[in-house]
Amino acid sequence: MRSQPCSILLRLLLIHGLFLRLTSSRTTVHRGQFPPSFLFGTATSSFQIEGGYLQGNKSLSNWDVFSHMPGKIEDGSNADVADDHYNLFLEDIELMHSLGVDAYRFSIAWSRVLPQGRFGEVNSEGIEFYNNIIDALLVRDIKPFVTLNHYDLPQLLEDRYGSWLSSEIQLDFGYFAQVCFEAFGDRVTYWSIFNEPNVLIYHGYLLGTYPPGRCSYPFGNCSYGDSALEPYIATHNLVLSHATAAEIYRKYYQEKQGGMIGIVISAPWFEPYDDTPADRLAVQRSLAFYFACISRLPTYSAEERKKLLEGKLDFIGVNHYTTLYVKDCMFSSCASPYSLGDAFVYLTGEKDGAYIGERTAMPLFFVVPRGMEGIVTYVKERYNNTPMFITENGYAQPAGAIKDSLNDTKRIEYHENYLAVLSEVVRKGADVRGYFIWSLLDNFEWLHGYLIRFGLHYVDFQTLKRTPKWSATWYTEFLSEDNKIRAIRKTSTYKM
Ligand SMILES: *[C@@H]1O[C@H](CO)[C@@H](O)[C@H](O)[C@H]1NC(C)=O
Ligand SMILES: *[C@@H]1O[C@H](CO)[C@@H](O)[C@H](O)[C@H]1NC(C)=O
Ligand SMILES: *[C@@H]1O[C@H](CO)[C@@H](O)[C@H](O)[C@H]1NC(C)=O
Repeated sequence: MRSQPCSILLRLLLIHGLFLRLTSSRTTVHRGQFPPSFLFGTATSSFQIEGGYLQGNKSLSNWDVFSHMPGKIEDGSNADVADDHYNLFLEDIELMHSLGVDAYRFSIAWSRVLPQGRFGEVNSEGIEFYNNIIDALLVRDIKPFVTLNHYDLPQLLEDRYGSWLSSEIQLDFGYFAQVCFEAFGDRVTYWSIFNEPNVLIYHGYLLGTYPPGRCSYPFGNCSYGDSALEPYIATHNLVLSHATAAEIYRKYYQEKQGGMIGIVISAPWFEPYDDTPADRLAVQRSLAFYFACISRLPTYSAEERKKLLEGKLDFIGVNHYTTLYVKDCMFSSCASPYSLGDAFVYLTGEKDGAYIGERTAMPLFFVVPRGMEGIVTYVKERYNNTPMFITENGYAQPAGAIKDSLNDTKRIEYHENYLAVLSEVVRKGADVRGYFIWSLLDNFEWLHGYLIRFGLHYVDFQTLKRTPKWSATWYTEFLSEDNKIRAIRKTSTYKM
């Protein structure tokens, strides 16, 4: 059977229906419920926070170019400045220090380190920037947890040979990885090679909503691309690029640097829409297509297979935000045109006028803490309890004035409830080693621009001033294991 492109239809389906007000409930959770070595952190990505898009001899990335095209970003914004983390990183590391986190997950902008890819010099200013971050973290006893690719790449590689559509990308990505291991690996021991490759391919080549914006009807409305073919080609090259980077690390760096390498997957949890065999099977297909995408693609040569096997992972990163209902579209027809999608399923957060959990500002992101148990148990069982990190979990607020945003009790409740479930799964034996809140700061939320805020810190995008939200105070107290009745609870209007 022909394998399917891996990534599945998220953020696609318009949700209609009533807003269901759920009674708030909070669970008391504290750090002592997790193993002592468990890492707590915050996460960001380079394009979403750095700004400084032409500073320090950086070249344009594919996202710089794409976000400047009219109509691509919902609020017409771009990330030229974003949080200006490029210039304010020391202040941001101080924020992390006051939170008391153990680790910080961030990504390296390829276009800063190798502005011309393998066709030009290593940019010493780019290396220096990340060296400064890493050193400032280590001084404060915060472990760097580094992503090599979080969607962005030098535009030059797109223009020159079509980035992920060409096997040449393997040479470029391997070289980029090697430059990073060589420059930073003496101090970085956690490497995620890719962030959410399933999302990158799905949006870039099937729907055409992320760069390079390639697709074909009926999946999307692009002037070039082929949704039936290009997702396979891009995934093939991406998987082999991953394998190339992993092979380089194993061969030349892992022994002396002693780090771990892994991949980060976008990982919602799924529940059957109806309790029928067809919908239960649809859930299995959805999970399989999300996770198995890295190993199911056709046409690998014997040599490529060998490389893939050698490149197996030291950890799996799970980005988990939401749970959705899955409806079968293989044995029955679905009304949505998107049911044509790879797994023959229809995803929705709504059933009979009620949502699966409280809605958030992010379409298709609902608050369903039990989903954390579902996804972690699934990954544990399927991957033989490979070490796992929850590399992202977070709560989306709509854009708003500072006075309406700082009292983010819904975010506190979200994290407490998801952490309570996580601590229970860990207690039952899942080898989860860390948890990263998305995000340290409000930032550029891809296609939503600045309309959606995930930060523990409010950012005024005019003045760039950062202000801790109540959730930042909550996290500090959680991390300091201060279990006293918290002032924040007393002042909150929120019902216990
Ligand atoms: C920045 O790039 C220019 C042009 O390639 C080069 O002349 C200059 O030396 C670079 N600056 C640094 C600090 O590397
Ligand atoms: C596709 O985009 C073009 C140009 O923006 C527009 O004229 C056309 O109506 C769109 N087609 C569909 C099916 O959305
Ligand atoms: C936060 O404060 C604003 C302004 O005082 C208020 O309108 C809003 O209802 C508050 N939100 C919560 C969740 O308490």
